Amino acid sequence: MESVVKFLKEADTYYLATVEGDQPRVRPFGTVNVFEGRLYIQTGKVKAVSKQIHANPKVEVCAFKDGIWLRLAGTLVEDDRREARQSMLDAYPTLQGMYSADDGNSEVFYFKDATATFYSFTMEPKVVTF
Ligand SMILES: Cc1cc2nc3c(=O)[nH]c(=O)nc-3n(C[C@H](O)[C@H](O)[C@H](O)COP(=O)(O)O)c2cc1C
Repeated sequence: MESVVKFLKEADTYYLATVEGDQPRVRPFGTVNVFEGRLYIQTGKVKAVSKQIHANPKVEVCAFKDGIWLRLAGTLVEDDRREARQSMLDAYPTLQGMYSADDGNSEVFYFKDATATFYSFTMEPKVVTF
């Protein structure tokens, strides 16, 4: 999992795909936090992306950096504990202008049953599961 976290942080922006019915939806995301050994992302309950994840938690992430692209597929699980939300906000002080751990909007999810694959044009795909 560490290699995935490192890659996502260095890429800075990744693209999170969800599904809404039979329609894929994708958007840029940046939050990545390790809490209790799991990879977390953050969003707001008011967003369409949140509603899509709650309806169908199977998602895929794509990021690209230095000729390598990462595809991370898995199931997101909401962690409704305050300490999980606060850990994310501590990792991203800039988010604290928009969110707080108790605002009823901020939410964090961790990846379960994750398969991450690193690709490039010059090497065989490398698969990491966590
Ligand atoms: C570089 C970048 C990083 C972003 N990171 C996040 C993030 O980690 N979490 C989040 O909820 N929104 C993030 N956003 C904003 C979402 O992309 C935006 O709210 C998007 O419209 C949400 O998807 P939706 O419209 O399907 O709900 C980011 C935007 C940019 C440009």
